[in-house]
Amino acid sequence: MPGAEAHGQRPTLGYRPVAKGLHWITAAAVFGLLALGLWMTDLPIGLTKLEAYAWHKWIGLTVFLLTVARLIWRWHAPPPPLPDAVTRWERRLAPVSHAALLVLLVALPITGWLMSSAGGVEIFWFGLVPLPNPVPRDAGLFERLRTAHHWLAWTLMAVLALHVAAVIRHDVLRRDGVFRRMWPSR
Ligand code: HEM
Ligand code: HEM
Repeated sequence: MPGAEAHGQRPTLGYRPVAKGLHWITAAAVFGLLALGLWMTDLPIGLTKLEAYAWHKWIGLTVFLLTVARLIWRWHAPPPPLPDAVTRWERRLAPVSHAALLVLLVALPITGWLMSSAGGVEIFWFGLVPLPNPVPRDAGLFERLRTAHHWLAWTLMAVLALHVAAVIRHDVLRRDGVFRRMWPSR
C-alpha cells in the first residue's frame, strides 16, 4: 500500500510463506475431499467406490497432519494484525471463524478415522503405513460417528461459504488488502 504510512496507516502485513503454503495446500485438499466425499457415498459397491474411499481417507489424514503442523507454526508465528480498514465486528468475527475452521480440520479427520475403525476397516496410509485401529468394531458407534462426520462436513461447508464470502467482500467490494495477506506472491 504505497504511501499508507505517510497517511498515518500501518502497511498491510501478510502471512508468512509457511502459513500461506499450508493454507493453500489445505484449501485445495479440502475442496477435493468435500467433492470426493459427496460423490463416493452415492457410488454403487465396487472397485471405484473402494478406491475413492481409500483416497478420501489418505488425503483426509494428510489434512490432519498439515493442520497439526499449521497449529504449531501459528503458535510460533501468530497471524499478522488486520489492516486498519477492517471494522470492529469483523475484527471480532475473523478469529472466531478461523478457529472454527481449524477445529473442523481436526475434528473431521478424527471422526473419519474413528468411524473407519468402528466399521472394522484397517487403514494403510497411501497403501504404505498401517495405522492402528483406535476403537474396536462396533456397529452402533460406527453409525454415531458417521452422523457426526456428516454434520461436521456440512458445518465446514457453511463456515467456508462465510469465509469465502468475507474475502470477496473485503477484496472485491472494499479492496482493503485482506486477500493480499494470504496471496502467495506478495
Ligand atoms: C477460495 C478459497 C479461499 C480463499 C480465497 C481464502 C482466503 C483466505 C484469506 C485471505 C485469509 C487471511 C484472512 C486474514 O487476513 O486474516 C484466510 C485465512 C484462513 N483460511 Fe482461507 N481461503 C480459502 C479457502 C480456505 C479453506 C478451504 C480453508 C480450510 C478449510 C481455509 C481456512 C483458513 C484459515 C483456518 C485461515 C486463518 C489462518 C490463520 O490465521 O492461521 N481457507 N483465507
Ligand atoms: C478434512 C478432512 C475431511 C473432510 C472435509 C471430509 C468430508 C467428507 C464428506 C463431505 C463426506 C460425505 C458425507 C455424507 O454425504 O454423508 C465424507 C464421508 C466419509 N468420510 Fe470424510 N472427510 C474428511 C476426512 C476423513 C478421514 C480422515 C476419514 C477416514 C480416515 C474419512 C472417512 C470418511 C468415510 C468412511 C465416509 C463415508 C461415510 C458413509 O459411507 O456414509 N473422512 N467425508
